[in-house]
Amino acid sequence: MKSPVNLDLGTIAYNIGEGALEIAGKHFTKFSKCFLLEDENTERYCLPVFKKALPNLKVHGIIRIQSGEVNKNIEQCIIVWEQLTKLKADRDSILINLGGGVISDIGGFVAATYKRGIHFVNIPTTLLGQIDAAIGGKTGVDFMGFKNQVGLFIDPMAVVVDPIFLKTLDDIFWQSGFAELMKYGLIMDRDLWAMLIHRNYKELDDEWNKLIMKAAKDKIDIVRFDNSEKGIRKILNFGHTIGHAIETFYLKKNDAITHGQAIAAGMICETWLSSQLSELEGSPQCEIWKLIDKNFDRLDITEENISELLHIMKQDKKIRKGKFRFSLLRRLGKAIHDVEVDDSLVIESLQFYIQKQNFS
Ligand code: GLY
Repeated sequence: MKSPVNLDLGTIAYNIGEGALEIAGKHFTKFSKCFLLEDENTERYCLPVFKKALPNLKVHGIIRIQSGEVNKNIEQCIIVWEQLTKLKADRDSILINLGGGVISDIGGFVAATYKRGIHFVNIPTTLLGQIDAAIGGKTGVDFMGFKNQVGLFIDPMAVVVDPIFLKTLDDIFWQSGFAELMKYGLIMDRDLWAMLIHRNYKELDDEWNKLIMKAAKDKIDIVRFDNSEKGIRKILNFGHTIGHAIETFYLKKNDAITHGQAIAAGMICETWLSSQLSELEGSPQCEIWKLIDKNFDRLDITEENISELLHIMKQDKKIRKGKFRFSLLRRLGKAIHDVEVDDSLVIESLQFYIQKQNFS
């Protein structure tokens, strides 16, 4: 067993790497009762791994919700609040969120609001959860068709990132995580970008552990300085203003795509915006589009969909006084935030995406 990296930053403990799960038990000793939140997938694939690694941990109650972004809603929160109440969870209880981004978003939100707040620990079991959703204290639910419309920033007591959970992941989840890895490379980590360039997510077998640790540490570095997204954290939104609108658009059609597919599309558009608005040093845009296209098929968005996408984008939390504010690239490995962008350019960026120009 390799030793995980253990970082105690302020009030949050991070245990990252192989073996992290086995040492996670220490986070639960001072609580009166432990509750575990799971979905049907994590019950099947991850709970046995969790129990094997922590055989002496007494879990007072296991609460199950339904998996998937379509279920990231207030109804699932009610299920958890009800169960915590019935199982007599008190203010000295702790909630263990075992799952991907939906579990940590809902679990964190419920924990923060149940009896005005109990502690929680995130144990992310998907690639996206491990490098993004579980770190940084964003919690909440989708509401009235808009992503993350209701929620709050609240930090977990600890985040335990152990690659042991990733063994059972389907290809589609690796692909989805690859989009976020590319994002870290583009906005802040040139070394990471260099490790990804010319690669396909299916070819990275031996390297995933290293990549995950690197990306998780990149995210921790950002949220340590700006947890409430007042400044530098906004660069993590590169690809997400347009990407979230695309994700919502497909969700509304009941034709859900992965977060990574949406963000990959968003990064193609927002790289185009970067090349138009800031002097993109070194003109790396073709290299970026090429790597994204090597890993993601273009989505079937058409010219007719653009006005609806724009309408969805107008609800975005990043809008200020009716104007879009984007996080864009300055050069490879460096992003800037709060760049004001006119609607007309956003439309052009989507048209650029639809054209499917070939960069190989
Ligand atoms: N997923 C972007 C953030 O946590 O800020």
